[in-house]
Parts: sequence; structure tokens; C-alpha cells
Amino acid sequence: ITNADLNAAKHLMVGGVDTLELAKQYQTPLYVYDTGEIRAEIQAFKQVFEANQVNYQISYASKAFATVAMYQLIAQAGIHCDVVSGGELYTAKQAGFPMAHVSFHGNNKSLEELTMALDYGVGCIIVDNFYELGLLRDLAAQREQVTTIMLRVAPGISAHTHEYISTGQEDSKFGFDLNSGQADEAVKQAQAAPFLDLIGIHCHIGSQIFELDGFKMIVDKLVTVFARWRNDLGFYPQVMNVGGGFGVKYTSEDQPLLPTEFVDAIIKETMVQTQAKAVPMLEIWIEPGRSLVATAGMTLYTLGASKDIPGIRKYLAVDGGMGDNIRPALYEAKYEAVLAKDPTLPSKEVVSIAGKYCESGDMLIWDQKLPATQPGDVLAVLDTGAYGYSMASNYNRNPRPAVVFCEDGHSQLVVQRETYTDLTRLDVPLVTKTEVNN
Ligand code: LLP
Repeated sequence: ITNADLNAAKHLMVGGVDTLELAKQYQTPLYVYDTGEIRAEIQAFKQVFEANQVNYQISYASKAFATVAMYQLIAQAGIHCDVVSGGELYTAKQAGFPMAHVSFHGNNKSLEELTMALDYGVGCIIVDNFYELGLLRDLAAQREQVTTIMLRVAPGISAHTHEYISTGQEDSKFGFDLNSGQADEAVKQAQAAPFLDLIGIHCHIGSQIFELDGFKMIVDKLVTVFARWRNDLGFYPQVMNVGGGFGVKYTSEDQPLLPTEFVDAIIKETMVQTQAKAVPMLEIWIEPGRSLVATAGMTLYTLGASKDIPGIRKYLAVDGGMGDNIRPALYEAKYEAVLAKDPTLPSKEVVSIAGKYCESGDMLIWDQKLPATQPGDVLAVLDTGAYGYSMASNYNRNPRPAVVFCEDGHSQLVVQRETYTDLTRLDVPLVTKTEVNN
């Protein structure tokens, strides 16, 4: 939080809008985004590539946060996006996102999803395995539709992150194994398929990565393999897609590099390695998800009940929890919260922020210092913009919160709050035995 985030009344501000006003207007729990910050993050990535004068593409990994308005914002910013399901693809299409700028990921795309992608004319399909390669080869041939693909490889390099979000290691469900000849075989099959146009190789080593080593290792390894393929298979990719995973700062203890520092190092390492191996420079694609949206978003809650266990812990409960942010329960993810009415108030006590869901594990924050609070105060849990709304659930039949975009002093509702009617909309009442017999 900077001074600019505080208005004269010391209320926490988002994109020039008072968070207390937001809570009043749209109710809580509420996801709010500073969309100016998202645009600035995108611009920062672009500048690193431009400064290094390389061919590039930035593809927003929309699993981090996808809504119609978000796809429209990404389209406005002029970058590509990734989708990982028919549902994300459909949402992007509904948003009018240019389909030629969409890449389709996933380790078990169905025939229906692949058909949908070809019908829509997506720009690139990132093929994960031999089963999918076969499906797509046949589908593209049947339709006589030239289809641009990349192959996802598992480089056998693991990033130091939570095991659930680490994906590059050898023992992973994703991608063609690079060490056992699977990736070579996939390249041969793709090249032999008349309607598949193999433009690049993709790999993604994990998420919330703090260290450069993993990225440098994949660049070295990929360029080495590409040089060998150039000799042995007559194939050299145009694109090296290094995925996303650039870590962000959730708490004052986190000290990640800037996302742009990762990318600058990746570009320079690629230059060094391609020169050393006397192979052409590659076009570099990245797929940032978290780093574009995490710190631009926050969740506003209203404080309610509290429980003080003398000498042990004080719990403050909010009107949301694991249904709108599963990350603390699932990954032991850490967040920090401030009081929206005045984040500069001196801290008074150590409290733990509990959700309202019927599980002891439904805790948003353990042991954080906060000023004195009372029921009805608005609490802002910061940096919840990635994998919060997108992983939200209706657990305990709680409606999912609304989403609001803020920029230049204006707010705009981009996802409505679910209602109780929404919760039963798809339910089908029990058919009684007599009705069945009729
Ligand atoms: N590209 C691929 C192929 C991916 O699998 C992912 C994330 C990304 C890009 C974007 O990674 P990012 O820049 O957002 O780190 N739900 C977890 C994160 C799962 C990430 C899965 N893949 C969480 O809440 O931490």
C-alpha cells in the first residue's frame, strides 16, 4: 500500500475508488481489481522484450482469473491468452477475444474441446501427449484444416515451489518426457502429419517461482535439445514457450525477483545459448497468469463474530473464506489484511482471520497484527487477484461474490454476485416413486 492508495479520510483506495464505498455499493465479500495495475504489468513485460529487441508473445494464462471483462481487457492490451478448457475458450469467445490470439492448453482435451477449438479457429493448440496428438492429427486431416501446434515437453527440471503447483519435474502428468525420447518421437509424428504445423516447443516448470535457476536450466536444456533436433530431425522450432510461474510478493516476507527480471534473464540466457550453439535465435513466448493479476486484486470482507481464547488465540471471522479463496487451505498460502477504514492505524493485537465455512481449516490468515476492530468493519485481504475468483466454489451453498473493476476513480461491476436462486437453478427435484411408476 502506498500513500496514493489512501485518500484524505485515510480509507483504503483501489484504482482511485474508496473501498468503503465499494463495500457499501456492492456488498461483501467482494473481489475488487485495480485494472490500471494489470495494464501496467502487461506494459512492463512488453518493455522488457522491446528493450531486448527479440520476437515475442505474451499470453495471459487466464486460469488465474477469467471473466468476459477480463478477456476484453487483455484483448485491449494487445496480448494473447491461454485457455485450458472448453469453458475458458467459450468465455473468451463470448468476450469477442480474437481467436487467432488464443492458445489452448490441457493434458486431457476432449475430442469435443478440440473440435470446438478448430471450429473457433484458435491460434495454437499446445499438444500435451500422444493420445491428443493422434486425435488432433486425424481431426485436422478430416477437416483438411491446417492447425498450428506446439508440443509441451516435461524437461525434468523442478522449480522450488509447492509440490501441487510444480509441473516441470520428470514425474509429472504434463507433457512429453524430454529425457526418454518421447519428445523426439512426438516431433517426428507432428512433422509427418500433413495438417499439423509445428511452430514451437512449450514447457512450464511451476508456479510462484522465486528463483532464476529453474528458468536458466530449462533454456539451456531446451536450446541443447533444439540444436540436436536441428541436426538429427531437420526440425528447429520457431518458438520457445517458457510458460509462466513468475512469483509475486504476497507478504512482507516474500522477496521474489520482479516478473520482468525473470523475463530479462530468460531472454539474455536464450541469446547466450543460441549463440554458443550456433543456432538461430528463438521467438520467446511467456504465459504469465499470477504476475499479471495477483497484486491488482483484493477481497473485501465484513468482520462479524470473534472468539478470544485467553492466552491462546483471537479469531476474527469474516463473511467469506475458503469458498472465495481456497489457497490458504489448499497450499498454506499466506496473505496480509488491512482495515479498509484506515490501513495506517497502529496495530493493537495479533489475530487470526477465520472464514465462515464449516471447517476448522477455513482460515484465511494465521497470526497477523491488526488495529482494534469491531463487527461491521471492512477488512481487505490484499493480493488475492490470482486463483481466488477462478478457484471459488459454492461450498456450504454460499453464493460466490461479485467482481468489480476500478480505474481512474470509477468502478464497474464485471461479475454479479450469485443469488440463492442461482444456487438451486440446476437442481432437479426428487421424483417420487409414484411419479416414476407412471
Ligand atoms: N502456463 C501453464 C502451462 C500453466 O500450467 C500455468 C499455471 C501458467 C502458465 C501460469 O502460471 P502463473 O504465472 O500463474 O504462475 N492454483 C495454483 C496455481 C496453479 C498454476 C497452474 N498452472 C495457485 O493458486 O497457486
